[in-house]
Amino acid sequence: MNPFQTVFELIGADQIKQLTSYFYEEVASNSALRKLYPEDLSGAEERLHLFLLQVFGGPQTYSEQRGHPRLRMRHLEWRIDATMRNHWLNAMFTALDKLQLDPNVKELMMEYFIKVANHMINHE
Ligand code: HEM
Repeated sequence: MNPFQTVFELIGADQIKQLTSYFYEEVASNSALRKLYPEDLSGAEERLHLFLLQVFGGPQTYSEQRGHPRLRMRHLEWRIDATMRNHWLNAMFTALDKLQLDPNVKELMMEYFIKVANHMINHE
């Protein structure tokens, strides 16, 4: 793994799209998570998809459409405690497990998700 290559270059746009789609399959089947999300999941799926493309080094379309991510602020409307964080991370890790990824890239992505998910906690 070349440290100067981005996750986007290493895994490609298709796998980031696939990851988002698997993640939302998990959201749909997890009642604790599901009730936080809008009835129609397609808009939420597209927002996360564009965000992940951007954050992993791909096109910056997310910020063109949504502005600065300010993720913690955007998540304040939901009560996110450690249990909810675990639901989210489990959904994302299940999605990651479905992709065929180089273990080093996968670890990097998991570390990123853990860090940001911890940062989203806004309730004991
Ligand atoms: C820790 C538990 C988390 C919970 C319970 C949670 C829940 C939610 C919910 C309910 C939404 C609204 C869906 C929509 O309509 O867009 C949302 C949006 C979003 N979440 Fe999370 N989230 C969590 C962690 C994360 C993490 C770790 C990331 C990134 C790595 C993330 C990235 C996003 C993005 C990019 C959006 C769309 C923001 C926008 O442009 O409006 N979330 N999240």
